[in-house]
Amino acid sequence: MNDLYPFIQKIGLVPVIKLDNPKGALALGQALIDGDLPIAEVTFRAESAAASIEILAKKMPNLLVGAGTVITLDQAKRARDAGAKFLVSPGFDEEIVDFALSHGLPMFPGVNNPTQVQQGIKKGFTVLKFFPAEASGGTAMLDALAGPFPQISFVPTGGIGPANLAEYARRKNVLAIGGSWMVPAKAITEGNWAEIARLCKEARQLKSSLS
Ligand code: 3PG
Repeated sequence: MNDLYPFIQKIGLVPVIKLDNPKGALALGQALIDGDLPIAEVTFRAESAAASIEILAKKMPNLLVGAGTVITLDQAKRARDAGAKFLVSPGFDEEIVDFALSHGLPMFPGVNNPTQVQQGIKKGFTVLKFFPAEASGGTAMLDALAGPFPQISFVPTGGIGPANLAEYARRKNVLAIGGSWMVPAKAITEGNWAEIARLCKEARQLKSSLS
């Protein structure tokens, strides 16, 4: 966990990926590396997420591969067995959180209110996902949470893109920003890996220019 946070903070972005066909996993992983975003949150929105995670974890040691949209204990176990280096959930599920903690697997449970932040603090978290960011009050909510919870950093995700990246990047309590805009479903379906690499590079450059 200790090494993971600085690495994710340095990259500053977490691409949220839905990959329906694991056959595209390596090409997608290469596009992320070519685009200077060597991190992937491969979501269980695709049935075959664990297969994609396994391919990336085995074959691409330079890519930090995690599992996203983990909403059942079974998915958490499959993600871990496949080699996921971290888990992300849209909400705060104690069973999944306890599984991750007991296996030393870094996790970003999702929260969008103070009660859930306190649940996270109780479990020892210092970083939480803030989801769905825009629909939950965006940066105004992040600023409000900074008051009572100065020790907590967030990974806001949901409704963020190039147009509003800057306002999130400026917040002191933002560790990194998640989103799917740099890995659009259409480009994945079409196998347009060059476009994904281009979007990733553009996002990384924009984020770096704001830090
Ligand atoms: C997630 O699962 O983290 C979000 O749905 C990604 O949100 P976005 O598609 O609005 O970036």
